[in-house]
Amino acid sequence: MNHPNTVVELHNVSIFQKEKLILKKVNLQIQKGEFVYLVGKTGTGKSSLLKTLYGAIPLKDGIGLVADFDLKKVDWKVIPFLRRKLGIVFQDFQLLMDRSIEDNLLFALDVTGWTNKQEMQQRIDIVLTNVGMQKKRKSMPYQLSGGEQQRVVIARALLNNPVLILADEPTGNLDPETSEDIISLLNMISQKTETAVFIGTHDYYTITKFPGRIIKCANGSIQEVEELFS
Ligand SMILES: Nc1ncnc2c1ncn2[C@@H]1O[C@H](COP(=O)(O)OP(=O)(O)OP(=O)(O)O)[C@@H](O)[C@H]1O
Ligand SMILES: [Mg+2]
Repeated sequence: MNHPNTVVELHNVSIFQKEKLILKKVNLQIQKGEFVYLVGKTGTGKSSLLKTLYGAIPLKDGIGLVADFDLKKVDWKVIPFLRRKLGIVFQDFQLLMDRSIEDNLLFALDVTGWTNKQEMQQRIDIVLTNVGMQKKRKSMPYQLSGGEQQRVVIARALLNNPVLILADEPTGNLDPETSEDIISLLNMISQKTETAVFIGTHDYYTITKFPGRIIKCANGSIQEVEELFS
């Protein structure tokens, strides 16, 4: 990586779904702690770009670095190590419904190689406190509102101190007020922890409340935009 603060670097990247070219000449740099939105009409390639960054779509064309990983060299053996540097948040909350919040987080620590029970409990304390959910530690996911579940998902994303959070429509299933609350939380995290946050969203109202860099997918590529409605 050229610069120690760079967490994403794409040079002349082309992104495909199967054989179909979705985005071309993608150039993008994201630095530590940056808060960046990814906007664009439906089907323009937002999810495809995010998937490329977390290794779910292989990089064929161009140069791509994420959290010091060369995306061209990310295969199934490397993906778990890349994912440990990333926090990934989706629209559907993706908690395991058959176990408590604490057990969801313990499971996530377990599969990422944590073994010391005391350290695991301490880490869970910290991330739940960061998202204001420590009181719900023993609750089951179905006892939580959508916004509360998404807070827990964000806590889970924070467990391994990611350098980058990738969120694909994290507020897609939430009402406007709760959406604002979730974006505010992600914004606070990017400021406090220097974690970069990259959010794919249609939620223009919230963008105006929590300003950040805006990248737009359109016409088969991406561009930086100054004005959302230009
Ligand atoms: N698994 C897939 N196989 C083949 N084509 C796909 C696949 N997923 C997406 N595509 C196509 O890739 C293009 C970009 O889709 P993508 O999901 O990245 O868009 P998006 O900007 O995230 O849209 P939305 O706002 O609806 O989530 C679309 O034309 C879509 O049909
Ligand atoms: Mg999408």
